[in-house]
Amino acid sequence: MSVLVSPSLLAADFANLQRDIEMINSSEADWLHMDIMDGVFVPNISFGFPVLESVAKICKKPLDVHYMTVHPEQYVERTAKLGAMMMNVHYEACVHLHRTVDKIHKRGMKAGVTLNPSTPVIMLEDIISDLDMVLLMSVNPGFGGQKFIFNTLSKIERLKELIAKHNSKALIEVDGGVQQETAPLLAKAGVDIMVSGSFIFQSSNPHEAVRFLKNL
Ligand code: DX5
Ligand code: ZN
Repeated sequence: MSVLVSPSLLAADFANLQRDIEMINSSEADWLHMDIMDGVFVPNISFGFPVLESVAKICKKPLDVHYMTVHPEQYVERTAKLGAMMMNVHYEACVHLHRTVDKIHKRGMKAGVTLNPSTPVIMLEDIISDLDMVLLMSVNPGFGGQKFIFNTLSKIERLKELIAKHNSKALIEVDGGVQQETAPLLAKAGVDIMVSGSFIFQSSNPHEAVRFLKNL
């Protein structure tokens, strides 16, 4: 099976949002990745519910929502109401991670847990069997267009071992600096989903950029 591709909306042209969503709709992309930043958990602010709601109305791809906020549990209800398929919360932002994952499932969404580059995968040992996805950050969260952190490749190996040990169904998604040079390494490492922002949206042919990732 080829990898799934989740283009990151953060790199879209916000003055032409409808055009860019339609571009994603007509591409081979599998999901749409939406980055919510609160200026507290990460040193940047992206967009919030008014934008999410407008995008959800016109986007035909399943929504993969990535919360880079403190207290993401506060937003479970509203994210479910959007019709989101996946809600990703940061391990580092959740004191009661098990409760938050449970809340996400009860609202009918898949639950993803995201790890910052410096957080070891072993921190998920006691929750991995409840997760639908683990999102490994391959840059420090907060900004698009950053350089890929190569330690992510060995982290993927350790995560695969953890998933196998617990017979978990969790998929592996990687986010940050995924482009022409790094994507083949991720495909070889066996990731399930690649998030990619600037590589897709700043390409002269975004459909071709998505196809490149899908055909690795
Ligand atoms: C970073 C975000 C990413 C970002 C990726 O905090 O989580 O989703 O948009 O952008 P690129 O692909 O440009 O690194
Ligand atoms: Zn993201």
